[in-house]
Amino acid sequence: MMPTRLADLLRLPPYQAYSYSYPHKTSYRPLAPALPIEALWLGEKRDALFLYLHIPFCSYRCGFCNLFALARPEPAKVDSYLTQMERQLRATTKALGEHRFVRFALGGGTPSYLDPSQLHRVFEMVARHATIDLPAIPAGIEVSPETVDDDKLRLCRDAGIDRISMGVQSFSPAEVKTLVRPQQNAVVEQAIATVRRHAFPTLNLDLIYGISGQTVESFLASIESVLTYVPEELYLYPLYVRPLTGLGRIEAKRGGKPSFTLQAEPMDNRLAMYEAGRNRLLAAGYTQVSMRMFRACARQRRPCVLLPE
Ligand SMILES: C[S@@+](CC[C@H](N)C(=O)[O-])C[C@H]1O[C@@H](n2cnc3c(N)ncnc32)[C@H](O)[C@@H]1O
Ligand code: SF4
Repeated sequence: MMPTRLADLLRLPPYQAYSYSYPHKTSYRPLAPALPIEALWLGEKRDALFLYLHIPFCSYRCGFCNLFALARPEPAKVDSYLTQMERQLRATTKALGEHRFVRFALGGGTPSYLDPSQLHRVFEMVARHATIDLPAIPAGIEVSPETVDDDKLRLCRDAGIDRISMGVQSFSPAEVKTLVRPQQNAVVEQAIATVRRHAFPTLNLDLIYGISGQTVESFLASIESVLTYVPEELYLYPLYVRPLTGLGRIEAKRGGKPSFTLQAEPMDNRLAMYEAGRNRLLAAGYTQVSMRMFRACARQRRPCVLLPE
């Protein structure tokens, strides 16, 4: 029988579930009775807020991903989403009254899926409705390699974006295929070169460990590849296979024990991969900021000088 006491649960192998640091999508619900948000904000401090805008569109749907995102939407759907996002932004900032944002992120999904005119529209609505000075505060955007180009990055840089976060997941073609992610290393390489041309102060790259068929050696090979780009930040994500994702469906079809139920025995070598990866990053001079996040020390960071295109 599976334990239910916290102390017993903590004795299980470490990769049991995924925990979110923000409200999960299932926690959003209608309030009865509905409350005016102005009144809710009145008692809150509003001089150091984080503005997060979610762009739920991507070029493809990866097999592992359970984020709120839609692959290849109708162009009209993207435009009407942006119209609604602007309404929401206007209503929210109006309800906030006097306020100031000190951090900004365009997340997803893949915000760089937007074309340059749509991206421009997003930055314009932010400037029009929010009390925010993007060039003066930390401001990031999430991108996938195949959506990156000079026009979009120039727009982002001009708007004040200072951090690009790109999903790579793995440099092994076989592992990327297992993740059901149509990605090629040549495209990743080109995308990183494009980001570097625009001299963003921070490039973050995401890697995943725990992919079926992945070994400690192949994970370390991906880490060596990623280190050649000297990213300012790196995230190491343990793979979680959730029920309604592509990989979850494949797992269910195979009839094996779903990996998202409590496991008394380790199902894979995620911990061994993590330890090897973490040690390699520390040896390369990175500082561990959280379980997943690693940051290059100041002396490793590249000078932020614009390179010729
Ligand atoms: C919004 S995406 C990154 C940007 C872009 N959409 C892309 O895929 O390149 C956030 C990151 O979360 C990680 N991630 C998402 N679902 C995951 C899962 N089930 N297990 C492990 N990592 C996951 C991936 O590393 C992914 O790059
Ligand atoms: S991992 Fe990124 S590109 Fe893939 S479906 Fe999720 S948000 Fe979209």
